[in-house]
Amino acid sequence: MIAVYPGSFDPVTNGHLDIIERSASLFDKVYVAVLKNSSKMPLFSVEERCELIERVTHHLDNIVVTSFDGLLVDFVKKVDGKIIVKGLRALSDFEYEFQMALTNKKLDNDVETVFLSTSAQNQYLSSSIVKDIARYKGSLDGLVPAEIQNDIYKKLEK
Ligand code: PNS
Repeated sequence: MIAVYPGSFDPVTNGHLDIIERSASLFDKVYVAVLKNSSKMPLFSVEERCELIERVTHHLDNIVVTSFDGLLVDFVKKVDGKIIVKGLRALSDFEYEFQMALTNKKLDNDVETVFLSTSAQNQYLSSSIVKDIARYKGSLDGLVPAEIQNDIYKKLEK
């Protein structure tokens, strides 16, 4: 079964990586899909975000890192997917994620959203918190993979 894990990934965190690894072991193929036209002002370009994800997922052979714009369900259909994977943190994500899951179901009844609960150590982790810590040169250990930490510090120096 083909699954799609969508998001902004600005930048990818250990929380995202955990969901990517667990989805890769559940599904035959997982598209990690970076949203192109977000209303948010991203720190990293879409290409940079894809490259950072690729760098930390070399050990997984059934994932494809790509970008998409337009409706998520249209992208899922395009790649022959059946599942949207989302990570769910305690409390904070529920309402928004539930709204998106119901909307996507309304748009395409054949596509199911599967929620994986975020691991305990990543419950309070988000890309925004990572950027905030990095802006003030705090330690990113345990929050983002070591091999991309310098890219985040450098980007915020500019
Ligand atoms: O990491 P994020 O920013 O929470 O990801 C949000 C994302 C990309 C999953 C969401 O914005 C999305 O699916 N956008 C595509 C547009 C769409 O399909 N909207 C209707 C369903 S909510």
